[in-house]
Amino acid sequence: MSASVFPVPAEVAARAHVDNVKYLEMYQQSVSDPDGFWGEHGKRVDWIKPFTKVKNTSYDYHNVSIKWFEDGTLNVSANCIDRHLATRGDQPAIIWEGDDPSESKVITYKELHHEVNKFANVLHAQGVKKGDRVTLYLPMIPEAAYAMLACTRIGAVHSIVFGGFSPDSLAQRIESCKSTCIVTADEGLRGGRKVPLKANVDKAVEKAPVDSVIVVKRTGGDISMQDGRDVWYHDEADRVSDHCDPVEMNAEDPLFILYTSGSTGQPKGVVHTTGGYLVYASMTHQYVFDYQDGDIYWCTADVGWVTGHSYIVYGPLANGATTLMFEGVPTYPDAGRFWQVCEKHKVNIFYTAPTAIRALMGAGDDFVNKSDLSSLRLLGSVGEPINPEAWNWYYNVVGKQNCPIVDTWWQTETGGILITPLPGATDLKPGSATRPFFGVQPAVVDAEGKFLEGATEGNLVITDSWPGQMRTVYGDHDRFVQTYFATYKGLYFTGDGCRRDEDGYYWITGRVDDVINVSGHRMGTAEVESALVAHEKVSEAAVVGYPHDIKGQGIYAYVTLMEGEEPTDELKKELVKHVRAEIGPIASPDLIQFSPGLPKTRSGKIMRRILRKIAEDSFDNLGDTSTLADPAVVDDLIDNRQNRA
Ligand code: PRX
Repeated sequence: MSASVFPVPAEVAARAHVDNVKYLEMYQQSVSDPDGFWGEHGKRVDWIKPFTKVKNTSYDYHNVSIKWFEDGTLNVSANCIDRHLATRGDQPAIIWEGDDPSESKVITYKELHHEVNKFANVLHAQGVKKGDRVTLYLPMIPEAAYAMLACTRIGAVHSIVFGGFSPDSLAQRIESCKSTCIVTADEGLRGGRKVPLKANVDKAVEKAPVDSVIVVKRTGGDISMQDGRDVWYHDEADRVSDHCDPVEMNAEDPLFILYTSGSTGQPKGVVHTTGGYLVYASMTHQYVFDYQDGDIYWCTADVGWVTGHSYIVYGPLANGATTLMFEGVPTYPDAGRFWQVCEKHKVNIFYTAPTAIRALMGAGDDFVNKSDLSSLRLLGSVGEPINPEAWNWYYNVVGKQNCPIVDTWWQTETGGILITPLPGATDLKPGSATRPFFGVQPAVVDAEGKFLEGATEGNLVITDSWPGQMRTVYGDHDRFVQTYFATYKGLYFTGDGCRRDEDGYYWITGRVDDVINVSGHRMGTAEVESALVAHEKVSEAAVVGYPHDIKGQGIYAYVTLMEGEEPTDELKKELVKHVRAEIGPIASPDLIQFSPGLPKTRSGKIMRRILRKIAEDSFDNLGDTSTLADPAVVDDLIDNRQNRA
């Protein structure tokens, strides 16, 4: 397949950290001599006790074990703050832009140091010790970054839960990692609307009790505080000193847990550790975004997702960068907000998700053209495949054909970007994540695990470890092995399908498992199904993704009701409300089809392939239906399909 190619502009190559010759040379060394390569680049962070061992990893199915820099010790907050004080104490570390355009503030590295030390002492005062888990359920305010860094300063392990998750989802995540402390805010503010964070915490801790709840005041809204358990952050901060020594951590001590959805069961607690993660997050941030001293860098993600961890907080701050943190949404007060913020803070590097690009493209070019975007130098995309139409709009209208786009493919599990262009090295093709980052060895396999060579299409695996890789599923190493190393023994299976073209470029085609990607948010179909069947009127449910113009994928639910229940529009609304309450608004089904029966094999297995086709409104070729127990259900499903082109 031919695609348009956008060669690296000479001036971009000239100023970049690496051009193509350098990329090829470094890549070659990174895979032929990982110990030498990472031994050298591991020095980009400050070690308290330098490592003497670099890579000690095994993908052997019977003994999966991943360790990097295992005898080194360091502290992440010291790397993200203290080591910059001498040279850039007065430089902005964080530029915070509030939901309301009249609110913003700048936090220098010196101020960040003060705030994080205070926060660390407040955590201490609440009884949090090295190794304890702390759940953060916070809006996008500077305190979210302070709290993360404060945990790392004292060696506590944070588990951030996105503020859009329901009390039940929050409770499940508190329970799973046995957090003793929660940090939250009275309320969040997004798009002018309040998010009842503390009220949600109150409900969650009824199910999953904790010792203490630290509440940051954001809106001043009315909330209830329980004596002996809940404290205001500002009261506690007044009582503690602003000095807290960073704790010496081993490279393989856990840094954070982040829950993410898989094809089965409850979300998994992805565990990232200290040394390898920091080396990888900071190195990818520098090279992929071609970060140069003085750049203003903005990643629009929420810290509740891995993108926020690696590319709002840890990668940029480890590099002494200025990172912009945005509390609001792209369309408030209007669809020009992103561009107004770029102009206001003279953003040089802008990193967002295709779903936002598509939504803003739909709002029209005028919103973009009203702002002066001449500061922009580089654009990035993450979270889902970017369709060429959105890519071209981003390139032409936002970037004015002056800004390379880095389409970065990675996952919560990978800790950092794995497949991506490097702006000074890689010719771009709209829709392709292009080539592997240093040390990353992708391969394409067929369903049986046979390696496919050359230009081909199949499932994406990675054949060897990189420093940012997750180490385990919290409390369940066997689940880690089964999820990622059992499908193709000896290989890390990504769950994604991909195509590789004649130039060796990778084109990610989307998940091949029962995970869907809704507006760049990962959702397990099994989770939505179990929320639906928890409703008293539902007897059975099957959930699949279908193409959605803005969200990438929408959630399509087939629901079989209990005997005697009426399939009404009211009930559909009730079910949507129910799923929002069980999981959170991001899991709301877009379409619900009441179906008296689901297509099952004689052994009772639901044939999802058929459900996916019908949801896509492309049922001409349903494939073999002869193994169905009752082929007639298919006709009914087609007749009553909800997505008609
Ligand atoms: O399917 C891929 C898609 O997002 C999945 C990972 O989701 P999550 O763990 O939530 O992390 C998202 C942010 C890193 C992947 O398995 N994905 C992510 N980036 C891209 C992508 N698909 C295509 N192109 C991308 N650039």
